[in-house]
Amino acid sequence: MAEEGTLRIAVLTSGGDAPGMNAAVRAVARTAFLRRWKVMGIEAGYRGLLEGRMHPLDNRMVGGIRHRGGTVLGTARSREFTTPEGLERAVKALSQAGVEGLALIGGNGSLTGGLRLAELGVKVVGIPATIDNDVRCTDMAIGVDTALNTALEAIDRIKDTATSHQRAHVIEVMGRDCGYLALISAIAGGAEAVLVPEFKPRPEEIMRAFRRSWEQGKPHFIVVAAEGAKLSAEYIHAYINETDAEFESRLTVLGHVQRGGSPSAFDRVLASRMGTAAVKALAEGESGVMTGLRGRQMKLIPLKEAVGKPPLLDPAMYELAETLTGLPGENWQTRSQGAERLRASKDKM
Ligand code: F6P
Repeated sequence: MAEEGTLRIAVLTSGGDAPGMNAAVRAVARTAFLRRWKVMGIEAGYRGLLEGRMHPLDNRMVGGIRHRGGTVLGTARSREFTTPEGLERAVKALSQAGVEGLALIGGNGSLTGGLRLAELGVKVVGIPATIDNDVRCTDMAIGVDTALNTALEAIDRIKDTATSHQRAHVIEVMGRDCGYLALISAIAGGAEAVLVPEFKPRPEEIMRAFRRSWEQGKPHFIVVAAEGAKLSAEYIHAYINETDAEFESRLTVLGHVQRGGSPSAFDRVLASRMGTAAVKALAEGESGVMTGLRGRQMKLIPLKEAVGKPPLLDPAMYELAETLTGLPGENWQTRSQGAERLRASKDKM
C-alpha cells in the first residue's frame, strides 16, 4: 500500500494502437508524479497484465515519447482477458502488484474490458484512443485526427493519378463498424461517393453517380469506402470494371498505414488533456468512467454509456458529403438518400 495521500496506479494501452497513445501515457505519468504517486507501466495491454508484465515508470522514461507513433508500452488483443477466468486473474494481478487505480487507454473493446474490471471492484478510468472514432460520448478519440490526415494525404495523391488517367479509384480506409473515418476523409478529400458500414446503397446508385460525373466532365471518380462498408470496396471496384468496358477502376487499401505515424497537434493536445483528466478522476475516487471531449469541454462519462454500439454518423455530415459531390442538376430522389437512412436509424434507437 502506498503512503497516505499517495496512490500506486497503473497505465496500459490496449487494442489497435492509435497515434497519440504515447502522449496520453506521458500525461498520465507526469500528472501522477506531480502528486507523488507511483506509476506502473503494463506492457502489451491486457495480455501483459495477465502475464504480470509491469514495471515502474519514472519521469525520464516518459520523456521524448509525446511525438512518437505506436505505443511504447506495447499493445495486444487478448481473448483470454475477456473470459470470466481471465478477468479474475487480471484483478488478482493488479491487487498483487498493489495497484490502486488503472488508467486504461484504448478503443471500444478495451474500454468494455475496463468496465468489466470496474464491475469487479478495480478503480478504472478509461481514455478513448482508436482511429475508428467508434466510442460513444466523445466527439473525438485519440488518433482519429492523425489517421484522417494520413488518409487524406493518400486520397489527394490518388486523385492526381486518377485525374491523369481519367479513372475511377476506390480507396478503402479503416473502420470496422463505424464510417466516421471514411465519411470525413471523403468530405475533406472531395470524393464523389462514400461507402460506410451503417447502410448499404445499391451498386447501381454508385454507377449512376459515376456516369453522371463522367458526362459532366469530371476527370476522375473517387470512392472512399470504410473497411466494414456493407457495399465493400472490393465489390464496387469489380462492379465498375465489369459493368462498363469504357471505365476502369483501381483499388487501394490503405490499411495499417493509417494507424502509424507521428500524432498531429490535435491528437497530442487531446491525449495530454485526457491523460491529465484521468488522473484527476482517479484522485477524486472516480471509477467506471471515461474521459470524453464534448465540444471544448473535457467531461467524465460512465463507461456503461460509452461502450458497445458505435455512435451514429451525423446525418448532416453525410448530407454535406452528398451536396459537395458537385453534380449539378442532381435529382435528390436518385441519390443514395444516406442522410435520410441515418436519420431513420437514429429514430429507431
Ligand atoms: O480498431 C482499429 C482498427 O484499426 C480497425 O479499423 C481495424 O478493423 C482493426 O483495428 C485492425 O486490427 P488489427 O491491427 O488487429 O488487424
